[in-house]
Amino acid sequence: MTPADASSRTEALCRLAPVIPVLVIDDAAQARPLAEALVAGGLPVLEVTLRTPAALDAIREMAKVDGGRVGAGTLLTPDDVKQAVAAGATFGVSPGATDRILDAAEAADLPMLPGAATSTEVMRLLERGYTVQKFFPAEANGGASALKAIGAPLPQVRFCPTGGVSLGNAGDYLALSNTLCVGGSWVAPKDKLAAGDWDGITALAREAAALGTG
Ligand code: 3PG
Repeated sequence: MTPADASSRTEALCRLAPVIPVLVIDDAAQARPLAEALVAGGLPVLEVTLRTPAALDAIREMAKVDGGRVGAGTLLTPDDVKQAVAAGATFGVSPGATDRILDAAEAADLPMLPGAATSTEVMRLLERGYTVQKFFPAEANGGASALKAIGAPLPQVRFCPTGGVSLGNAGDYLALSNTLCVGGSWVAPKDKLAAGDWDGITALAREAAALGTG
């Protein structure tokens, strides 16, 4: 897959809903009901971070949910890419980007949403052909005003800002012409996950899905 194809596929995913839930799953038994709750609330695109031993099993379970698009986040190595694809991930997300991981994703036909935090990182990815990128960590890097400023000289790059994004500030990003969607963990909080409060998670998803885009 070329970087241009990867970007057009991640752009299509980002246009399905204003928020991509970023999920940290400790118990794979929670994966399916969690995915069903989020999809029911209007958030079909789900990022499962490869930060827990249960993550790959969670992706396998979530891949069975009708209407869901499950991807793997926190991809750090070519082996992560291989394991994510084997588990059924249909897209990949990384906090940054290295040639090794981009080579692996392109070879594996896994559309990547690679991370960038500075203009130089954005430009390096753009040189390679990635026009859709994750702005990470969004709030710590200056938030929506920083992303707006990056967009002045680099309007051809579209972003999914992630990191510190919440219901309260998501609208600031979504109002920007260079923001396609945002990523965030707030729609699947630990307490609701631990309690198996799927209705509560659907309610959070519905609220997030109602956020407009700019
Ligand atoms: C992460 O890497 O955990 C994501 O950026 C999500 O960040 P958040 O928990 O601040 O939404």
